[in-house]
Amino acid sequence: YKRNTVADIQAFKHKKKIVCLTAYTAPMTEMLDEYCDLLLVGDTVGMVLHGMQDTVGVSLEMMIMHGQAVMRGVKKSLVVVDLPFGAYEESKEVAYQSASRIMKEVGCDAVKVEAFPGIADTIKFLVDRGIPVVGHVGLRPQAINVSGGFKVQGRDQQTKEQILQDVHDAQAAGAFALVLEGVPEHLAVEITRSIEIPTIGIGASKDCDGQILVTDDMLGMFEWVPKFVRKYADLSQAVQAAAGQYQQDVEQGSFPSEKETYSFK
Ligand code: KIV
Ligand code: NA
Repeated sequence: YKRNTVADIQAFKHKKKIVCLTAYTAPMTEMLDEYCDLLLVGDTVGMVLHGMQDTVGVSLEMMIMHGQAVMRGVKKSLVVVDLPFGAYEESKEVAYQSASRIMKEVGCDAVKVEAFPGIADTIKFLVDRGIPVVGHVGLRPQAINVSGGFKVQGRDQQTKEQILQDVHDAQAAGAFALVLEGVPEHLAVEITRSIEIPTIGIGASKDCDGQILVTDDMLGMFEWVPKFVRKYADLSQAVQAAAGQYQQDVEQGSFPSEKETYSFK
């Protein structure tokens, strides 16, 4: 296997849809890798695996630890790691410290930043120093305490203009791809047609150059999922059925059986 490169992902824009999922652990990475072009170690790890209410509490150390786990399982996909809240916003120098730590300690291919107004200088600073960057525009989960929650963005003229500005700033600064989250279809179309770099959508219609979902959402680990998620499995149901059967077997003494027991030689 040869791992996908940044250039491979960019070339897909005009050839095929880019298939992306999140990954946080080694065994899941091993299962997903062959079906994906890009795996994102997202800061959603805080919500999906650690039970947090949002992504604001996720630390750089958590991102590094989960990134390392994913790198142990990957053979083919490009691996992108999120810069978490608090690790890059203050200045481009702070962003470089965090991003270079991730690149060195994880060995991933790129980092992702949420595109708050003014992020362009930071993106350019990182790219100039050898760190490939993905931008994340539209619904920005790290900004929910200001924006008022997980809400679709760009439905009115003012926020639409802001998103278009963020998109073009991120491209001009050297971002190699953009995640578009929670934007209406007409805006996803306009963005995807007007930039050279690929768009990867989540809740952003089929018109993006690629799609990403939170893996645990699409596997059905949670009962409630947002409107844009399609559940491809019902793991929650499967896990509960297995645990219930185990409980019954242990309580009734049918587990372990003789076959599952060691004997004296
Ligand atoms: O953290 C994450 O999982 C993400 C994706 C939803 C794009 O940023
Ligand atoms: Na994220």
